[in-house]
Amino acid sequence: MITLDRVSMRFGGLVAVDDVSLEIHGGRITGLIGPNGAGKTTLFNMIAGRLLPSSGHIVLEGRDITKLPVHERSHMGLARTFQIPQEFGRLTVLENLMVAGNGEKGDSVFNAAFRHRNYRAEEEEIYHRARETLDFLELQKLSEAKAGTLSGGQKKLLELGRALMGNPRIILLDEIGAGINRTLLVRIAEMIARLNVERGLSFCLIEHDLAYVQRLCSDVIVMAEGRVLTRGTVEEVRRDERVIEAYFGGGKYEERA
Ligand SMILES: Nc1ncnc2c1ncn2[C@@H]1O[C@H](COP(=O)(O)OP(=O)(O)OP(=O)(O)O)[C@@H](O)[C@H]1O
Ligand SMILES: [Mg+2]
Repeated sequence: MITLDRVSMRFGGLVAVDDVSLEIHGGRITGLIGPNGAGKTTLFNMIAGRLLPSSGHIVLEGRDITKLPVHERSHMGLARTFQIPQEFGRLTVLENLMVAGNGEKGDSVFNAAFRHRNYRAEEEEIYHRARETLDFLELQKLSEAKAGTLSGGQKKLLELGRALMGNPRIILLDEIGAGINRTLLVRIAEMIARLNVERGLSFCLIEHDLAYVQRLCSDVIVMAEGRVLTRGTVEEVRRDERVIEAYFGGGKYEERA
């Protein structure tokens, strides 16, 4: 579904992503793991259009999207959530969802010309979709709460909801499970699994909790120092010497000593 061909991202002298080629398959929940600073979020930022790669190409379902603006990628069915939630704190939960849903039709000249006539119908449709999303997330009771007052975990749920409002076919989840309680973590995992099975939504998720990754992903990509180290099931990559080294630095430590 998504193909990266020799993608690199340099920040000054630092190579955050170094010549990465990989494939994210449609229909699946793919895990992306690796130690802090491995380049995982940077990779997502390039796929989602927040960062322009220093070199290489990104292809989404056969189309080169390397330089495509964020909103055009979302029209193509690509959505993402942020490691640090990006809600509008002064808007309510419902309003946050509606704002996220509003971008979907884009701002073409055609739309602008017909906007006035279509506006009410469009708003109605977005409202209903936002309500459905609230039901799915089990956030109905918080619909009128200001998003800024939500707990960390509820903000993560809202991130997922905002991504869903674009009617995506693939969602990139950046540590949606980080720093939230066990109960909510299990609930979010169930939601992701349901969206995958019932709606055929594909996911690529960054997560540090390997038990959580194992529960959801049959396919895991491991990054370290900007490169892809290996790929396989959680059991496979866990046993891989290079992965153990990357996480615990054993090999490098010996080299330096
Ligand atoms: N905008 C930026 N400008 C300069 N350096 C950056 C920028 N974004 C990321 N980096 C650097 O690139 C490297 C990779 O960062 P990235 O955030 O992609 O790692 P990560 O794998 O997501 O880590 P974590 O697990 O801690 O979230 C790090 O050394 C980071 O400091
Ligand atoms: Mg990150």
